[in-house]
Amino acid sequence: MTRLFTSPREKVGSTSDLQSAASGFTRRNLIGGALAGVALATTMTSGAATAAAPMRKSGSTSMANEPFQPVDVVKIGLIGMGNRGMGMLGSWVGVPGAQVVAVCDVRADRATRAADRVANAGMSRPREYSGSDESFQKMLDTEELDLVYIATPWEFHHAQGKAALLAGAHVGVELPIATELDELWDLVDTSEQTRKHLFLMENCSYGRNELAMLKMAHDGVFGDVTSGHGGYLHDLRALLFNDGYYTDDWRRLWHTRSTASFYAMHGLAPIAAAMDINRGDRFTTLSATATAAKGLADYRERFIPRDHRSWNEEYINGDLVTCMLSTAKGRVVRAEHNVSQPRPYSRINTIEGSRGIFEDYVGGDGTGARIYSEPRHSGDTWRGASALRAEFDHWLWKDLEGPAAGGGHGGMDYILQWRIVQQMRTGQVPDIDVYDSAAWCAPVPLSVMSLEKNGRPVEVPDFTRGEWKKLRLGLDSVRSTMPAVA
Ligand SMILES: NC(=O)c1ccc[n+]([C@@H]2O[C@H](COP(=O)([O-])OP(=O)(O)OC[C@H]3O[C@@H](n4cnc5c(N)ncnc54)[C@H](O)[C@@H]3O)[C@@H](O)[C@H]2O)c1
Repeated sequence: MTRLFTSPREKVGSTSDLQSAASGFTRRNLIGGALAGVALATTMTSGAATAAAPMRKSGSTSMANEPFQPVDVVKIGLIGMGNRGMGMLGSWVGVPGAQVVAVCDVRADRATRAADRVANAGMSRPREYSGSDESFQKMLDTEELDLVYIATPWEFHHAQGKAALLAGAHVGVELPIATELDELWDLVDTSEQTRKHLFLMENCSYGRNELAMLKMAHDGVFGDVTSGHGGYLHDLRALLFNDGYYTDDWRRLWHTRSTASFYAMHGLAPIAAAMDINRGDRFTTLSATATAAKGLADYRERFIPRDHRSWNEEYINGDLVTCMLSTAKGRVVRAEHNVSQPRPYSRINTIEGSRGIFEDYVGGDGTGARIYSEPRHSGDTWRGASALRAEFDHWLWKDLEGPAAGGGHGGMDYILQWRIVQQMRTGQVPDIDVYDSAAWCAPVPLSVMSLEKNGRPVEVPDFTRGEWKKLRLGLDSVRSTMPAVA
């Protein structure tokens, strides 16, 4: 099996790194309909590498449709109190029924800063865990946690996520949940064995445009959905070379180790949701391309002093890594990753079908969305998407627009956190499960495998082991309320 790395420490580097409405379509006929017959024959390439699902561990059953055991108060432990961990802390404190009881970071000052923030908000001071790479384990061994949230560098996600499951907690992991295929399977298996959920903290899936796009797709606004295009196109050059930002340069260092689509999930996941991936369809093959690695070296040449440690580095990750994914129902998805070149931000968010198309990020300021949908529209002219976005506004945004306004990333962070806590308190099935998370993160290792074969298709594993054929709700949830706090 292709491995990017062999251990978290190796990944980090040296020890100093401790550091339809109108059209008459319905969701049901959309999923079971015209595309169903296209199926595997058109998407499975004879030359694709095989990725048979390993046997399910004895005694385990699927976590699909498994509800949370309801709890009055969700006791949360946080691991990694850097940029993201601190950014999410405000909402963990503010969401009704959530209680941050423990915080962990290898750096003691960061754990203390987080605990201070919680105490200053008038909540009980969480216990602090710090000092070593293993401090998180002490937290897991000591605390009784309902939910663990992990916002550490990518290299730690698999080990920490697995440990949190084994400690009896549900786990929310920042992107990606793991970077190797066997690690993804291990998290699927461990979730099934422990009966605890592990899910990607995919905040962009809760973006207002993304959720409206999802509802439009499921209502048949685009007819039979046939293709989608998403990605993470974000000029991170200044942050990647900023000495105070990514702790110990962890994120820049990934660009020295592998050519991979590291972080396309923010754009891929909403397309997958609109196509009911794991809920009626599934990804079958992936083929990748990568452009030359030019952007980071060019930036360093122009802006970074010659005595900076980055001058010892060689950047090998392609600037634009593109994954083409096929689905069992004959759909095609293009997922892009580019954080190394100058460009305005975009997650692309484009979906197209037999009766229409939606494209995000096309306004003059890079944020506007446009649409064309028959029979509403005619005349070969794009329409602004605001009217349809209002018509298909997701209940989460209608109900939470006010409190979400204070949360990060335009409110979608708060909505993600609120929804997780609400589902845990009311004993619902999570919107995002370990199978979704594994499918959305699989392009990290699969892009490496495909690029090693000059872009030949590789098979995408069926992490659900056959459950993908069953239609079930996900992010297109029905309205429910947060219980009052006693
Ligand atoms: N969903 C989003 O919108 C979003 C946005 C930003 C970052 N992220 C993700 O969040 C994660 C963290 O990114 P960041 O920008 O906060 O990085 P960061 O470097 O600012 O923070 C990482 C923190 O983890 C700590 N840490 C490292 N190893 C640890 C260990 N073994 N145990 C405990 N703590 C440890 C570091 O000391 C640091 O404080 C990444 O996975 C990143 O991709 C997601």
